[in-house]
Amino acid sequence: MTDSIEKIVSLCKRRGFIFPGSEIYGGLANSWDYGPLGVELKNNIKKLWWSRFVHQRQDIVGLDAALIMNPKVWEASGHLSAGFSDQLVECKNCHERFRADQIENDKACPNCDKKDVFTEPKQFNLMFKTFIGPAEEKANIAYLRPETAQGMFVDFKNVLDTSRTTVPFGIAQIGKAFRNEITPGNFIFRTREFEQMEIEYFIAPPKDDNDWQSVFDMWREEMRSWMEAIGLDLAHIHELEVPEGERAHYSKRTIDFEYDFPFGHKELYGLAYRTDFDLKNHFSQPPYRDGQTGDSYWPHVIEPTWGVDRSALAVLCETYAEDGERKILKLKPSLAPYKAAIFPLLANKPDLVAKAREIYKSLVNGSSSIVPIAWDDRGNIGKRYYSQDEIGTPFCITVDFQTLEDNTVTVRNRDTTKQIRLPGEKLASHLTENL
Ligand code: GAP
Repeated sequence: MTDSIEKIVSLCKRRGFIFPGSEIYGGLANSWDYGPLGVELKNNIKKLWWSRFVHQRQDIVGLDAALIMNPKVWEASGHLSAGFSDQLVECKNCHERFRADQIENDKACPNCDKKDVFTEPKQFNLMFKTFIGPAEEKANIAYLRPETAQGMFVDFKNVLDTSRTTVPFGIAQIGKAFRNEITPGNFIFRTREFEQMEIEYFIAPPKDDNDWQSVFDMWREEMRSWMEAIGLDLAHIHELEVPEGERAHYSKRTIDFEYDFPFGHKELYGLAYRTDFDLKNHFSQPPYRDGQTGDSYWPHVIEPTWGVDRSALAVLCETYAEDGERKILKLKPSLAPYKAAIFPLLANKPDLVAKAREIYKSLVNGSSSIVPIAWDDRGNIGKRYYSQDEIGTPFCITVDFQTLEDNTVTVRNRDTTKQIRLPGEKLASHLTENL
């Protein structure tokens, strides 16, 4: 685990995980692009999540709702009112803006160091505004969604009418969300454009607090077990019971799962009891009828929510290690951008290159299709190993002169650096078992 965010930022840039956005135009503050390896990592996180919470459960179905929704959605959800605002203060000297809760009024401005310079706090709404169609008029104002959640509430009845779902059940969605954050920063931790993985889990109106608490606890356990599945050490996770007054406007209870990022304990994920707040605001009539009792009601909602970018950042921070010169990302194989790498020992020996290509193709196109696999024929083998360690590739396969004689290859393990020699025909099964 690293205590330096600079090392992660530098590795991400150097190796093609994450680049500064619009870099050739001088960048755009706090926007980031996921490069060839970053997109693999991010997709692996999303695939694992979808498989775990949608495909492997009978009580959850998926959704991919539009990003720009009718502005009435945001009136009903409370996002256009003070509930979704931060208090903003401005330094009268350097004009830098800050979130009021991150500034102590009697302290100097963190930017210019002047004292007693802050304006009175004013409300700043975090919604990202845009216009639909060519005329930039009030009637055409629309907003980019600040959370994926509302799609699941607004489509509640459509999902219900078209899938064999009965309460309790959940709707899951992965997608982009936008917030006009006052103080983005800490690399991909807080950005204005980010991705969420959310579940709205609908339950019958609880008769007492135990009713919803048990579902809340079930999701708390699910979230903890997810964090282990992506390789986070639970010793680095801290649960924060968010006090009343600091919770989102819709929440009766919230737990933040904070992670030990190099820049401090910060929110990684959240779990909230949203009550029937959202469905009641969107549906004037109860949208659910219990088939057995005949009762109609507005279901209540437990909402576990995960940030994709924060997941990627936590995984990078957690798995980064140094061993002398060697830098390693000890990624879980399921998250590693490349599952293996293949090296012909010498690039200028056509026989070796041809044999390595043959093995590469057999792994990629074989029945167990191991993808993606990196190909590297440059530099000495030691450097190639180091290069793969740094991007988290679990196994390196070397094709050498002995391979040409007896069809065996060496397989090196990233974490132990131990090498074994295997017959070519056992390679695919060895990799599949260990990935
Ligand atoms: N639907 C509930 C909701 O949106 P939230 O706590 O505001 O709750 C959920 O956001 C998750 O989205 C956070 O736990 C975090 O992982 C991620 N997230 C929120 N704002 C973010 C930002 N500005 N940049 C990156 N990720 C963010």
